[in-house]
Amino acid sequence: MIDALSKASFHALARSRTLKRLASRYGLAHPNSFARRFIAGETLEEAIAAVRAVEARGLAITLDYLGESVSTLEEAAAAAREYVRMLDVIVAAGITRNVSLKLTQLGLDVDRDRCLQNLRLIVERAQGHGCFVRIDMENSPYVAVTLEIFETLWLDGFTNVGVVLQSALHRSEPDLRRVNALGARVRLVKGAYTEPADIAWQRRADVDAAYLRLMERLLREGTFPALATHDPAIIAAAQAFAAKHGIARTAFEFQMLYGIRRDLQTALAADGYGMRVYIPFGREWFPYYMRRLGERPANVAFVLRGILSER
Ligand code: FDA
Repeated sequence: MIDALSKASFHALARSRTLKRLASRYGLAHPNSFARRFIAGETLEEAIAAVRAVEARGLAITLDYLGESVSTLEEAAAAAREYVRMLDVIVAAGITRNVSLKLTQLGLDVDRDRCLQNLRLIVERAQGHGCFVRIDMENSPYVAVTLEIFETLWLDGFTNVGVVLQSALHRSEPDLRRVNALGARVRLVKGAYTEPADIAWQRRADVDAAYLRLMERLLREGTFPALATHDPAIIAAAQAFAAKHGIARTAFEFQMLYGIRRDLQTALAADGYGMRVYIPFGREWFPYYMRRLGERPANVAFVLRGILSER
């Protein structure tokens, strides 16, 4: 049954507004909530406590205030205000100065210009604080506009902004050349979304092969590359490539998600590699959580066992 639940069905669930409402009301509050494994809490205070625990393991972090696909300008402006507040709190708390965000959280579906204005407010404050802002990459309809908005800010002098490219997409090769030529920082991921065959690799082996090709170019030509994956084969290939080409362990970083492969996170940091953990928090955690469940059937089995054991 679990195998029959495809990644695509989780993405459909992730878009359900009713489920999202119910989950936000009950999910994280429940002491045995499986979502807690992936989400650091609903409040910034809870997230900072989680950050401190991760940093105590010798790892860097990026903090993500969860939210996406907002449908009003008010919600978008509120998210931008929350990010600006968050930057001040991060500085006061003395934790790693690095945040991640999504453009549909800042109103990209409603008004592109207002989204850019919202993002500009955040990156200006971040620049003043010496803080880095990573723009997460959403599904394919948003890729071109996300890169265009990123480039607008970059050319305005905001070099504290970076982007994400997905190896699943055919277009990522030219996109990587373009971002490398600017000298901006790229996070390379496989891609979390279900995409059509005319624009994206469908077989896992093809997505992985594309990752390796892009990774080599990024390590050779990129600026402080971020290799975001939990895949041990890809991590080993990156280590071998860096060693062969004399690329220092601190000249790039690995990134992983909060709650996934903690053992590997700690081991890589202990070996002297840069290691950053992506720490999401906030009330709007449901779509993020559904994507994590869809990536691994074993996660669903774990959730179902938890639910059944409580009956
Ligand atoms: P893969 O899916 O092949 O997994 C390799 C191994 O990792 C698995 O065998 C398992 O052991 C472990 N693993 C992976 N996912 C797991 C899970 N959910 N639960 C438990 N174990 C799991 N995507 C995107 O489209 N835009 C973005 O901006 C980002 N940002 C981002 C930041 C960071 C820091 C990371 C690590 C990932 C992203 N992603 C992303 C998500 C990414 O595209 C991808 O969906 C996941 O990282 C899973 O792919 P892997 O590379 O880990 O490989």
